[in-house]
Amino acid sequence: MNNYQTALITGASSGIGFATAKLLAERGMKTVILARRRDRLEELKNQLSKPEDCHVLACDLQDHTAIQNGINQLPAPFKFVDVLVNAAGLALGLSKAQSTHWEDWETMLNTNCMGLAYLTRQILPNMVERNKGHIVNIGSIAANYPYAGGNVYGATKAFVEQFSLNLKADLLGTAVRITNLAPGMVSDSEFSLVRFEGNAEKAQKVYQGITALTPADIAENVAWVISQPAHVNINRMEIMPTAQAPSRTAYHKENP
Ligand SMILES: NC(=O)c1ccc[n+]([C@@H]2O[C@H](COP(=O)([O-])OP(=O)(O)OC[C@H]3O[C@@H](n4cnc5c(N)ncnc54)[C@H](OP(=O)(O)O)[C@@H]3O)[C@@H](O)[C@H]2O)c1
Repeated sequence: MNNYQTALITGASSGIGFATAKLLAERGMKTVILARRRDRLEELKNQLSKPEDCHVLACDLQDHTAIQNGINQLPAPFKFVDVLVNAAGLALGLSKAQSTHWEDWETMLNTNCMGLAYLTRQILPNMVERNKGHIVNIGSIAANYPYAGGNVYGATKAFVEQFSLNLKADLLGTAVRITNLAPGMVSDSEFSLVRFEGNAEKAQKVYQGITALTPADIAENVAWVISQPAHVNINRMEIMPTAQAPSRTAYHKENP
């Protein structure tokens, strides 16, 4: 894959990040896997055919000191990150803006925007210095198609998309590439479980009667964008299940 040797994947303890880390490792890359739950990361590492080519980085993206230390202390074989996949992120709740918990908004902003930006800022200079690398940000269709209750979550994903496009402008003249990959509905991850505070029944209902995308589908998309010839940069990629479409504009009828 373009002579990329090492990939750092955030959100690797579950869902899209997990599937992506597994796929890139299967395709022969060394991986640095990042999330808060160390046990889940160790589990993933032990599932790989070459666990010695995987480094576990258990830290909270909201903790900038922990990220900085983790990156500065990467063992020598993992020091040069060629591919950064920013998959960690979350949506909390589905309440209307006027009745959400402020703490949920803070957590989403601190993780989806600040954490992603901070880690990217840590990794990017070395990519530019070596004139080699690809950053794949996992955005969301929520960035472009608002829905009731999506409020700050959708806004964080709009940040991710716009940040990606602006990075592209900064990276012009270098070989470093950047992609915003925006999935629609993905099942078989913990996304809805986290959104609904562990309510499995509520989470399951979201996907009832729909063949949603899977984390493995998105992992394949990541592998595809980074395998494009060096002169090709996929700026944005939007993927939906066949059973999903952008919804029409909502309206409110005074006298239905
Ligand atoms: N599922 C969907 O329908 C869907 C659609 C569009 C976009 N997305 C986006 O895809 C990405 C992955 O979601 P997913 O569906 O795979 O959900 P998931 O299974 O819940 O995975 C989220 C990952 O993010 C990690 N994470 C959350 N907060 C973190 C923090 N503070 N520090 C470090 N890691 C953190 C979690 O690990 P720990 O809990 O171990 O830290 C977990 O590995 C997210 O950015 C999400 O917004 C999902």
